[in-house]
Amino acid sequence: VKRDLVTLDDLSDREIESLFSLADEYLAALGDLRRPPRVTGALQLAAGRILSTLFYESSTRTRLSFEAAMLRLGGQILASADPGKTSAAKGESIADTVRVIESYADLLVLRHPAEGAARLAAEFTETPLINAGDGGHEHPTQTLCDLYTLRRANKALRGLSVLLCGDLKNGRTTHSLAYALARFGAHIIPLPGSGLGLPDHVCRRLETDYHCTPVPREEHREMLNADTPLDVVYVTPTAPHQLSLLTSTGATDDGEAERRIQLARRTLANIDVCYVTRLQRERLEGDLAPAAYPIVDKKFLSERRYKNAQVMHPLPRVDELAYDLDEDPRGVYFKQAAYGVPVRMALIAGLLRLRPEVLSAVPPPARYEVYKPSKRVRCTNPRCVTNLASEQRYSTQKFWVIDSYTIRCAYCDVERRPRARIARVEPSAAEWPAEPGEKPVEAGG
Ligand code: NCD
Repeated sequence: VKRDLVTLDDLSDREIESLFSLADEYLAALGDLRRPPRVTGALQLAAGRILSTLFYESSTRTRLSFEAAMLRLGGQILASADPGKTSAAKGESIADTVRVIESYADLLVLRHPAEGAARLAAEFTETPLINAGDGGHEHPTQTLCDLYTLRRANKALRGLSVLLCGDLKNGRTTHSLAYALARFGAHIIPLPGSGLGLPDHVCRRLETDYHCTPVPREEHREMLNADTPLDVVYVTPTAPHQLSLLTSTGATDDGEAERRIQLARRTLANIDVCYVTRLQRERLEGDLAPAAYPIVDKKFLSERRYKNAQVMHPLPRVDELAYDLDEDPRGVYFKQAAYGVPVRMALIAGLLRLRPEVLSAVPPPARYEVYKPSKRVRCTNPRCVTNLASEQRYSTQKFWVIDSYTIRCAYCDVERRPRARIARVEPSAAEWPAEPGEKPVEAGG
């Protein structure tokens, strides 16, 4: 079975750990001692292998660090950087493109503006594929770099308190990071620009997949200045499933709620990471620029809670992260970008099986049953890859069955609740089971 990295859940905890150990190894072998954590020189491990970078959206660091990583491993690259010059401009489908490129390269790295594009592409090729950003959906390799940066700073994720600032609605880096933080037991404090909070489907995944609990503002109000726009803090149970266990063994709801509030207050009192992101102007479409947007500078960080915070940013920055922090020891964003090379080297070596011990033969099992409806049931997200005109000729809709009321698009994660209750989960069912008298689910919802 070939392995892909479309979302971080494509990797098990052990695999993430081994990738990071391998990145450590590359840093030790090739680290530039005068300019850490830069790597220099090259190995011969990937000699004769080709990595293709297919970028349908602009990129500097992600594409160049993938290419640098492949070159440092001794391999070669085949880049299609200008979408205007590829066949996509002629209306070619993603499925056709990857089926062609797979005969030119051993590993594909795709960036595409449609949400879910990388999952769809991965399904159409036998070649391992890496998601380098699919619209406003996810950016898992940036998250690997983020987690690795924390690990190099000796920050354990469990119990870590992470402020996510900026465009949390359209910022794919914050979505992938939020999932990883929740998965590994960190607590999340969203500080969005106005109208740019985490999308519903991201909050849903935080709750259903990673057992995160939202603690609303009323319950931690006294921890904040009146003008701090924090609506909610997401806390992850400190021991997995602890909260649900407490409930089922008859603990009072009050006790559990009180524990969460205390946890949220502790989370706000001492912030370990301040993760800043830019306004994703290219995804605003008709939306107006937000009325307010958080700017992180020396003044913002002068509150005591940020005394030991690591300031991170996936870059590029615009005005949301002040240049006066470049000399501040809390700012780690350039290191974070530099770690992109050893981390991506490890990922390439793993996926190409140049280091077969890193990834196991099969991916982690899916969390939910799959449901493939007939053409009538469509994903309701207009930015989903399955709704692109170029992909409609072949793409089938595919959903995860979350519970008996909810299905989730397997490509973009947007959920929908058909009006009929789902009586019975039958992955092979040709049609969504509608109850008598209910209208069938309509396309476009
Ligand atoms: C990010 C992206 O492309 O999503 N950049 C990156 O890959 N480091 C962040 C951004 O563009 O704001």
